[in-house]
Amino acid sequence: MTETVSRDDAVKFAYWVPNVSGGLVVSTIPQRTDWSLEYNQKLARVAEDAGFEYALSQIRFTAGYGAEYQHESVSFSQALLQATTKLKVLAAILPGPWHPAVVAKQIATIDHISNGRIAINVVSGWFKGEFTAIGEPWLEHDERYRRSNEFIRALKGIWTQDRFTFKGDFYRFNEYTLSPKPVQKPHPEIFQGGSSRAARDNAASVSDWYFTNGNTVENLKAQIDDIQSKAEKNGHKVRIGVNAFVIARDTEEEAKAVLDDIIRHAHVEAVHAFGDAVKEAGQASPEGEGNWAKSTFEDLVQYNDGFRTNLIGTPQQIAERIVELKSVGVDLVLAGFLHFIEEVEYFGKKVLPLVRELEAAREAKAA
Ligand SMILES: Cc1cc2nc3c(=O)[nH]c(=O)nc-3n(C[C@H](O)[C@H](O)[C@H](O)COP(=O)(O)O)c2cc1C
Repeated sequence: MTETVSRDDAVKFAYWVPNVSGGLVVSTIPQRTDWSLEYNQKLARVAEDAGFEYALSQIRFTAGYGAEYQHESVSFSQALLQATTKLKVLAAILPGPWHPAVVAKQIATIDHISNGRIAINVVSGWFKGEFTAIGEPWLEHDERYRRSNEFIRALKGIWTQDRFTFKGDFYRFNEYTLSPKPVQKPHPEIFQGGSSRAARDNAASVSDWYFTNGNTVENLKAQIDDIQSKAEKNGHKVRIGVNAFVIARDTEEEAKAVLDDIIRHAHVEAVHAFGDAVKEAGQASPEGEGNWAKSTFEDLVQYNDGFRTNLIGTPQQIAERIVELKSVGVDLVLAGFLHFIEEVEYFGKKVLPLVRELEAAREAKAA
């Protein structure tokens, strides 16, 4: 059955790399997830065997909100690529601390070393405290996105052209030629995280992929329709990835009990502090929209509103919800878990085959 869904059409799966301590929830609930290299290399191998196509690393320059230790995203991604053979690893990149020339060069080299398995996630920042701590200017919300837009255009130019010239407000290049160019053509995939108006406009014009926080199907549909109608006008193709914190258990009761437990153990002070900090994101935009603009205390216990997507229940319930997400235009599910290794394995065995069956059934019905 699986074969009848063409590969490009099948929902893709990514998992969050726990390269930051404390896992993916701001909770004191005991977790078997670990931020170490050893744990992460094993997880990456388990994930590629389980059917995950992508792994997404995180970038944080300083501690806060339960994430005391953080490995750097580009070097950590490289270590995961060394441990795997199929997985594509997304290195998180933060314009400001990173200059596009450095990123273009680093990623081109990693693309050669990994034989075309590196990609990037350009994030525009929400954590003013880390910018202040490293002496990096903190731009206003929409200025950060204007910088990310130039950053992405500059990267594409460097990766695809010789004697690249660019005169922007943030970056300038003068007949610059990068050699060698990346292995992947036209260039490694560029993902972008955020959901404010500015984030959506960037997705509709320059990014290959739009990554957004967890949300209801209805709210996701509104975002996706907005992006895709704009992208069409721009003659641009963009695909959509959505965050979800997955709690798959044999029974719905078990899965819900785990969610209750995570929230009951919420690190209340850290959740409130995180909630205050993320007001620098979407809420600080002219429209007051975006990631975390409407997040409740419970939502914020998972860094990217992953409970809202509601992939919590039995494998069958979760598979059905994933196919529903696909029906409104979601191309990729970015999954976080409580105990990563064992839950990624369970997901690969129990949930993914059901998703492929449902996709095939829908395709057959449509035909
Ligand atoms: C899937 C995903 C991954 C993200 N990863 C990071 C990260 O590693 N580091 C970071 O500083 N911000 C990260 N962000 C946050 C973005 O930088 C941005 O601040 C946030 O999405 C708010 O954007 P908005 O104001 O457009 O809604 C991520 C966002 C998403 C959706």
